[in-house]
Amino acid sequence: MLRHYAIVPAAGSGSRFGGETPKQYQALAGRPLIYYSLAALCRCQRIERVWVVLSPDDRWWRQHDWTSLGHKLETVFCGGSSRSASVANALSAAATAVDDDDWVLVHDAARPCLSQANLTTLCDELADDPVGGLLAVPLADTLKRADEHLRVARTESRDGLWQAQTPQMFRYGLLTRVLAEHADGTDEASAVEAAGFRPRLVRGDASNFKVTYPADLLLAELILKGRVEP
Ligand code: CTP
Ligand code: MG
Repeated sequence: MLRHYAIVPAAGSGSRFGGETPKQYQALAGRPLIYYSLAALCRCQRIERVWVVLSPDDRWWRQHDWTSLGHKLETVFCGGSSRSASVANALSAAATAVDDDDWVLVHDAARPCLSQANLTTLCDELADDPVGGLLAVPLADTLKRADEHLRVARTESRDGLWQAQTPQMFRYGLLTRVLAEHADGTDEASAVEAAGFRPRLVRGDASNFKVTYPADLLLAELILKGRVEP
């Protein structure tokens, strides 16, 4: 039986969100935003350990009490200058605990509404997959290409287009190798693609959206308050 581990990159500054406090520590229903992403992973029985990757000069983590998340959580203060650098550094930090064939789920700190149902579907659907994959949703809206005056230059086809979410789940050995060679993508799957593989798209739902702007917090709060999970 292959083991499952999780990495939560949380060393970003939240420049689009703005403000003094980094996005992952913004208050959401009385707790820091990142708490919910970590709680979803820690609650999942098949995940053995959760590494949270913080900036070396993070001064917010210690201001909160994380004991309710239990024993699976481990902090590493090795965040890098990009998301992929943060993930690559965490993979190195985890090297002694994880085997090459073990699964690693990388999940954004800023996706607090990950459901246990989507997490289970991801693990189940990829269990025997030779490559791995990611949660994603087919694009629903009509797509417009803007010109420089913010007028519609044309309508783009949305056929076959999906929005990538996280978790993104790949084997430790593969993920470590591809991130070392292709560090310029904004997600793990793009590094895997650049190495010539085709990650599997596992259908999730829009509730697992990424908090990017201040207005997104209200939506996240409504989703979390309306959810009943075992
Ligand atoms: N991240 C990271 N290390 C970085 C940049 C980002 O660990 N150098 C993490 C973020 O903390 C977040 C996830 O990657 O959990 C997704 O990134 P994003 O939503 O883009 O967050 P930020 O980079 O913080 O926001 P922005 O792009 O608006 O600055
Ligand atoms: Mg970013």
